[in-house]
Amino acid sequence: MLAMSWKSVMFIVLIGLVVNWYLDTPLPDDMQEKWKVRLIDAGMRTYGHLQRFLVVVGLLDPFSPLDRWLVDVFVTTMTTGRPWVQRVDKALVIRDIFTTTNKIQMRMYEPKTSLHQNKRPVFFYFHGGGFSLMSIESYDALTRKLARESGVVVISVNYRLSPQNPYPTPLNDCLEAIDHVVSTSQELRIDTDRIAVGGDSAGGNLAASVSLRLKKKIRLQFLLVPVFQMFTYNTTSMISNRKYFSKTVNNLFQVVFWTNYIGCGNEYILDMIENKHTSPKLKNSEYSTYVDQERWMNRKYIEEKLKNKNLSQRTDFGFKETPFCFEERMLDPYICPLMANKQMLTDLPRAYVMTAGYDIIRDDGIMYAERLKDAGVSIDLVNHKTSFHNALTFVEGPLALSVAKQTIHGIVNYLHLHL
Ligand SMILES: *[C@@H]1O[C@H](CO)[C@@H](O)[C@H](O)[C@H]1NC(C)=O
Ligand SMILES: *[C@@H]1O[C@H](CO)[C@@H](O)[C@H](O)[C@H]1NC(C)=O
Repeated sequence: MLAMSWKSVMFIVLIGLVVNWYLDTPLPDDMQEKWKVRLIDAGMRTYGHLQRFLVVVGLLDPFSPLDRWLVDVFVTTMTTGRPWVQRVDKALVIRDIFTTTNKIQMRMYEPKTSLHQNKRPVFFYFHGGGFSLMSIESYDALTRKLARESGVVVISVNYRLSPQNPYPTPLNDCLEAIDHVVSTSQELRIDTDRIAVGGDSAGGNLAASVSLRLKKKIRLQFLLVPVFQMFTYNTTSMISNRKYFSKTVNNLFQVVFWTNYIGCGNEYILDMIENKHTSPKLKNSEYSTYVDQERWMNRKYIEEKLKNKNLSQRTDFGFKETPFCFEERMLDPYICPLMANKQMLTDLPRAYVMTAGYDIIRDDGIMYAERLKDAGVSIDLVNHKTSFHNALTFVEGPLALSVAKQTIHGIVNYLHLHL
């Protein structure tokens, strides 16, 4: 060891500096489990670098099957510690079923404790990933845990993804999955009066849209770090949180997931981020009152610096005319549930809304919860103040986060209380 040359010492120091630089990402002071969070952010950035490199050298197309496979392997490895998904479970029977019309794949997790029952409640889960990425595979750890800890049958839906399958396909696939289970409920031993739906991020959007369609046929909706609107990108959570996770989950360029979903092409991405995609006329319309933060944003969730500000928005700028494909889809409540009027929101199922304090889309969930409450819907809103957008997926493995465990715990309790 004494013979270690100055070159190796330099090398080790250099590697140390590079690793430190790579892992050092700005994080809020009160963020919990900082080192795990740094590793998670670095892992996601590494996927981003690898993806961009493979795209540049012509080996990969964004949102191709290979790209999606790569994302699934990354996410599975980061959320479980293994690159593959285990097919067996001591506590569960796991099998895939398919809808009749479009052969939509669903993974059914049946707790062994429920196998003797004939009428079992069911929880449909719609995974996140911006309508464009992820699958029931990369969400296996979360959905499995939900089934194991709640004793409720969980059905994870592998809806088709955008941009190849824009709206309404992903939403219709979720509806078709529910319809299939309802029509074969005897054979599956499901109680059709006790259906819960839920999802995170884009999956939370799908759960809310499914609830807007099926109303009281659904008993409970779980809206976890959901995305609900593309009307304004100047919410307090956008302003406060864009500096954290800015290369990964809080990257404003994630609006590409919206343009994928609504099939609008990518030429307006920068305009969206700057709120130019809405015309002054639209900014002065009733729709803007649905996302008016002066009205719907409880100041207890807002960071100190913005607390005493008037949150009203400027209305005197933007395109003269809102581009047609936006106007139509941006205002469609089945795409952007925050665009639903009060009437549409009145007879919705009870909602559990969970948001993360350091998520750029935190305010979408908070405002939707407020609007549901205003329309007379029973809601519970839980804001994990020091958490970030996809923290809830880290339920096990070396990067398991305690906030993910708390989230599971919250959902399981709620299922037991209300389903
Ligand atoms: C905030 O600003 C808007 C528009 O400038 C104004 O109409 C409103 O009264 C202001 N709200 C408060 C509480 O000052
Ligand atoms: C963005 O929102 C802040 C309040 O949160 C407001 O002061 C500012 O004028 C808004 N900017 C635009 C361009 O509307």
